Order: sequence, then structure tokens, then C-alpha cells
Amino acid sequence: MARLRVLTGITTTGTPHLGNYAGAIRPAVEASRRAEVDAFYFMADYHALIKSDDPARIERSRLEIAATWLAAGLDPHTVTFYRQSDVPEIPELCWFLTCVTAKGLLNRAHAYKAAVDKNAEAGEDADAGVTAGLYMYPVLMAADILAFDAHKVPVGRDQIQHIEMARDIGQRFNHLYGGEFFVLPEVVIEEQVATLPGLDGRKMSKSYDNTIPLFAGGAKALREAVMRIVTDSRLPGEPKDPDSASLFTLFRAFASEAETAAFRQALLEGIGWGEAKQVLFERLESQIAPMRERYDALVAKPAQIEEILQEGARKARAIATPKLAVLREAIGLRSMATVPVSAAGGKAEKAADKPPRFASFRDEDGRFRFRLLAADGEELLLSSAFADPKAAGLMQKRIKSLGAAAAVVQLTSHGLLLELDGEPVASSPEHADAQARDRALERLREALDRLAQA
Ligand code: TRP
Repeated sequence: MARLRVLTGITTTGTPHLGNYAGAIRPAVEASRRAEVDAFYFMADYHALIKSDDPARIERSRLEIAATWLAAGLDPHTVTFYRQSDVPEIPELCWFLTCVTAKGLLNRAHAYKAAVDKNAEAGEDADAGVTAGLYMYPVLMAADILAFDAHKVPVGRDQIQHIEMARDIGQRFNHLYGGEFFVLPEVVIEEQVATLPGLDGRKMSKSYDNTIPLFAGGAKALREAVMRIVTDSRLPGEPKDPDSASLFTLFRAFASEAETAAFRQALLEGIGWGEAKQVLFERLESQIAPMRERYDALVAKPAQIEEILQEGARKARAIATPKLAVLREAIGLRSMATVPVSAAGGKAEKAADKPPRFASFRDEDGRFRFRLLAADGEELLLSSAFADPKAAGLMQKRIKSLGAAAAVVQLTSHGLLLELDGEPVASSPEHADAQARDRALERLREALDRLAQA
């Protein structure tokens, strides 16, 4: 049975906290133990450079994160566990992908757009303080994923767009070079995974400064953090509402159903908050203590971690190196010692069929519209309605010279929307499913390129 390749990256900037553990590390370690899963987990330390120019912080975070994952039970023999920066094929692929990625696609990336919006608000230049690294973030991430032909990529919701872009970029490369070079990855959002509240009740996050440490500071720091969890002012003896207490949510994420039911009962019966915090602390500590012991032992022997990661890089490169050889060959970076290929080979043959065409018509309301039809007559797009035939003609002209790279195509659940100047100007028919839609997108892109070349 072909195993499912599940890949995810961890940006190495911070120190893992309890929320990272319950929300990402624990489920990933569990998934890696399933027989059908071929897990690729890596430290995205090139991505970390986008966020931090502090070498000490990068170094410390890489060590802490590697030790945390290993202490949490990740088995480097069954999982390919590596550092991005130990796999030179990733930045190499990143460049290949950069050259097929529409700049317009990157303009729409949430993280970049947020930076631009912030600048606009502050009355600054749109790109003030924005590095090319931030701008290229999605392409590097696409390289991380596509280099290994990952099927599934478990991430947080904030990363969904990046996975969609990886698909887009991979598909574009496949299309341009005429082959199935890359598996198109699917995003996995683990709905049932715990999102933990932080000390103040908001989602636990470094950016809110409300985290509970996982290992840092030992049992003492864990206990101190638990004692700082915000509660309401109900006194001992007064019934507490478990469902509005972060204390309870945290407990539940680390306890069995029976323990959870007992804790709920205790709150309803008026256990004091101080005592409840002690119960929570003990529950957490009983799970964390053995991991912390392994963690401390690992951190004390960085050379051992280094060796594990080097072995991981060897396994990763055993896949990425031959993959990049195929890609280099495909894009024309070939050895000159082999037989030269004719200048007309490859692409020209692929596009030897008839060009796509426009078909104009008037709709029932007497307005002017047109369709873009593929060479075989398939309807690719139907334009919006124009009152004036000249406007419809001008729109055809613009679409004709657009080319796929400059086309902004929004995906709807089963269809495509072509946008110009931020406005939808034409739409595809509704397709049976997302795969059919994705294939139609490829045909549309092909047609747009054909038109632009004519
Ligand atoms: N950007 C991801 C995050 O911040 C980390 C990451 C980098 C990643 N490369 C990846 C995740 C590839 C999944 C696949 O969470």
C-alpha cells in the first residue's frame, strides 16, 4: 500500500508552549504513529529568518523545538525529521517555482497584504519594512511541500491560503513543463484538536503574551502560570460554570473523559478556584514531567540532536535530490554531454492544436456578452454583460493580451472567476467538483497563454 505522505513545518522562532503542544505537536506525533502515514516533519528555519534577525534566538529555538518534538515522543526512525536548511534542494526548487509564480499571486498573500494595510494605516509607503523574504514566504513554503510530493499538509487555519498557493504554483509548473511533476497537496485542518485558552481566556498565543510554558522553567514555572489563570470572582462553596472557565478547557485537553466529568462535578459543587488550579496543575504536571525529563536530557546533549537531524536530512535528501534532477532536466538545465534537443522540441509540440477563440452574442436582455471557447469548443468563460458592444470588444482585447501569469483567477467552490482591476469580468461554468474545476483552470490558463502568444 502506498503510504500517505503527511508533511508539516514548524517555524523556529519561539519556545513551544502548552498551546503548541496540544494544538500541533501532540496530534502530529500521534498521526506519525499510524501505519499508513509517512510523516515528514521539519523545522522551517529558513522561514524563521523572515521573522527574526537574531542569530541567538534562531539557534536557541531550533534546539528547543527539536528537543520538544523528540521529548513529546516523535520517533526519528519512523518519521523523517529534519531541518529545512539542511536540504539545499529546497531553496533550489524555491527558485524554479519563483520563476513560474505570478507576482500578482503573491500580492494577494494574507501576510503580505496585512503588512501593506498596516503601512497604509500608518501613512507609510506600502512596502515600508517589508522584506522580499516576507513576500516570497509562500513560494518557499510551496517548495517545502512540493519537493517531497506531500499528499496532506496539516496546518493551522492561518496557513490555508499558503497550501492553496502551493497547489496553484505546483499546477502551474506541471502545466508549463507538460508533466505530472508534483503531487498537488491537500490542506488538513484538524477540527477536533484542542485550541487552548491562555491565561487571560483568549486563545493561547505568544502574540497575546498569555502562554503557559511547556517545559521552560520546570514545574515551578508551570505552577506559577496555572495560578495566574484568570477566573471569575466566585468564592469557595459557590458553584462555578465549567463551560465558561478556561481552567476547565485546559483540564479537559489533558484528561480522560472520566476525569473531566469529575472535575466538572467538582466545579459545579463549588470547589474553590485555588484548589481547582492545584488540581489542574497536578493533571498537567503528571503528563508533562516525564517529557520534561527527556527534554532536559536532550537539551543537555545537543550533539545527539544534531546527529538525529543529520540523519533526517539524509533521508529527506534521498528523495529531494533525484526529484530535483528530474526537474532540472525538465526545465532545460541539462548536461551538455547528453544529446542536444531540437529547438522545436517540448513545448511547441504540446501547443500544436488550434487556438482558443471568442464568440460574441447578445443575451435575452439585449446586452453584449461573449464566451471564451477552447480549441475543441469547450466553454472556458462567459463574460459579464455589457450595454455597449465596444466595451465588450475592449474587454475581449484585454483578455486576449493578458496571458496566464497576469490573470487573476479566483476559485469559487466549483467554478472560476476571472478578475480585472479587482472586478470579476467573466466566469466559468460550474464544474462537478473541485478537481474538475482545477483542471478547467489549467485549460483556461493554457488558453490565455495561447491567446497572448498569437
Ligand atoms: N508557515 C508555517 C507556519 O508558520 C510553517 C511552514 C513552513 C510549513 N513551511 C511549511 C507548514 C510547509 C507546512 C508545510 O505555521
